[in-house]
Amino acid sequence: MTPSSTVGTALPGTLPERLAAGEPGWSTEADVVVVGSGIAGLTAALRLRGQVGKVLVVTKDVLSAGSTQWAQGGIAAALGPGDTPLEHEIDTLVAGAGVCDAEAVRALVTEGPEAVHELIALGANFDHSDDGELSLTREGGHHRDRIAHAGGDATGAEIQRALVAAIEAAPEIEVVQHALAVDLLLDDAGAVAGITLHVMGEGQRDGVGAVRCRAVVLASGGLGQVFSQTTNPAVSTGDGMALALRAGAVLRDLEFVQFHPTVMYLGPDSTGQQPLISEAVRGEGAFLVDFAGDRFMQGQHPLADLAPRDVVAKAITRRMHEEGQPHMWLDARHLGKEFWERRFPTILATARSHGVDPVTELIPVAPACHYASGGVATDLWGRSNVPGLYATGEVACSGVHGANRLASNSLLEGLVFSRRIAHVLPGELGEQRAAGEDHRVAGVVAAGVRPAVQATMTERVGVLRSADGLDRARDELAGYAATPGEEGTAAWETTNLVSISAALATAAALREETRGSHWREDHPERDDAGFAGHFDVVLVDGRPVATFRPAAATDVEAQQAVAR
Ligand code: SIN
Repeated sequence: MTPSSTVGTALPGTLPERLAAGEPGWSTEADVVVVGSGIAGLTAALRLRGQVGKVLVVTKDVLSAGSTQWAQGGIAAALGPGDTPLEHEIDTLVAGAGVCDAEAVRALVTEGPEAVHELIALGANFDHSDDGELSLTREGGHHRDRIAHAGGDATGAEIQRALVAAIEAAPEIEVVQHALAVDLLLDDAGAVAGITLHVMGEGQRDGVGAVRCRAVVLASGGLGQVFSQTTNPAVSTGDGMALALRAGAVLRDLEFVQFHPTVMYLGPDSTGQQPLISEAVRGEGAFLVDFAGDRFMQGQHPLADLAPRDVVAKAITRRMHEEGQPHMWLDARHLGKEFWERRFPTILATARSHGVDPVTELIPVAPACHYASGGVATDLWGRSNVPGLYATGEVACSGVHGANRLASNSLLEGLVFSRRIAHVLPGELGEQRAAGEDHRVAGVVAAGVRPAVQATMTERVGVLRSADGLDRARDELAGYAATPGEEGTAAWETTNLVSISAALATAAALREETRGSHWREDHPERDDAGFAGHFDVVLVDGRPVATFRPAAATDVEAQQAVAR
């Protein structure tokens, strides 16, 4: 690709430029609205309070329902003896396959240890070893033990518990639960003037309403429900990314969707959220085997079963194809009953609830959608290109993940970049802007097409992609986009899924190479001359249009020489 070349798309159908929704029946005001209540959203809210007047947190379900509470492995930071931020930085850059933003990665790894200590001071109880030191484990792509964990394999749940407790102890932060963020209100210059919400069910407010505000912080998580099988909860329907796209924001690196290698396989008809078998299980010694019992990761990568996630997911997929099987196996029997019960109680209970006892049996595993490395493009301080719109956590693309997120860097990203937003946002708050007349074309897609959208994405835009499959996916998505539906939460979510799918498939079609978590069977090699950069997608007249932007080169080898 040439620098900054713009490539239109052949998507024949158009996407809504705003969601069709009734006129707001109620209104309120805040200084800052935070959308989302995981580690990123609650950290932003807690750190903004007292600095900006009224902070309003909006969450689609209850406060604890997002992705954070499902995180098992932990949170990565250079906390152990002998470890350094530089070594964490190198592992992050290597996993990111040449397209990380080096400055963002530097911020992540250098500010990470302090941010984790603050989380501990807030009340999050991490696991400690017998000598009283923080207990640290290892996951794929890390060359050190640097993953702090809690409750064995319940790290996210413990962090979420501590953050929710802190929010509940801060009555000055208003919380609206069961509220879907519909669209941004913009002024005549395209800057944030507020946000419309649909509040579901009980409470003082009901139905669509408008919140006038001076800034919005998106922390609404990922897009896992775009695919038929995912580790993400049901709320992860890409709402924040879709809302931002409709408001003129740039979405970056969308094609880099991480498929977690070891998601428990529950059979061909199992859809929606699937049980994760944390990489930390392999970090503690478990290994993959095929149907003949062969340890197929050995010899594939120096880190074998703990190679970066994309390498393991590809190896599993290849072996599944070679053997004509729908899954491979994880062998963790040698860890023993006592270790399983102490170190991985949640995974043990979940596996047993599905009829597999990991203490005595192999666990069937297959890759499934796990994490969106891309999202709303932000700078080092969480600012998007839309004035007044910030983004943090999985909804954002801060540049730290590149083409493949390093394990357990996601909780850390939410923590570090929410702190950064809280550092700059108060000084950047302008006066309340007046919402202009909204000329965007409204629409909504029928809720009933959701399973078909997910099937298209899974079959044609999943782990293994090709030009033919991607072209067919975009045709099919255009058909879904042109299927009108009735206003309501299910249809709005489906519209968001279709919009994000179309943008993702567009970027995936244009990236004619294999890099990180983007795997093209028709372009199996990484092509640094052509594609060492990012596809930025915006919505133009209802169509996703991508622009290629080269990445600054990162000299990982030189850094490796310094660090090791
Ligand atoms: C895992 O525990 O394997 C997931 C951790 C992560 O996604 O970073």
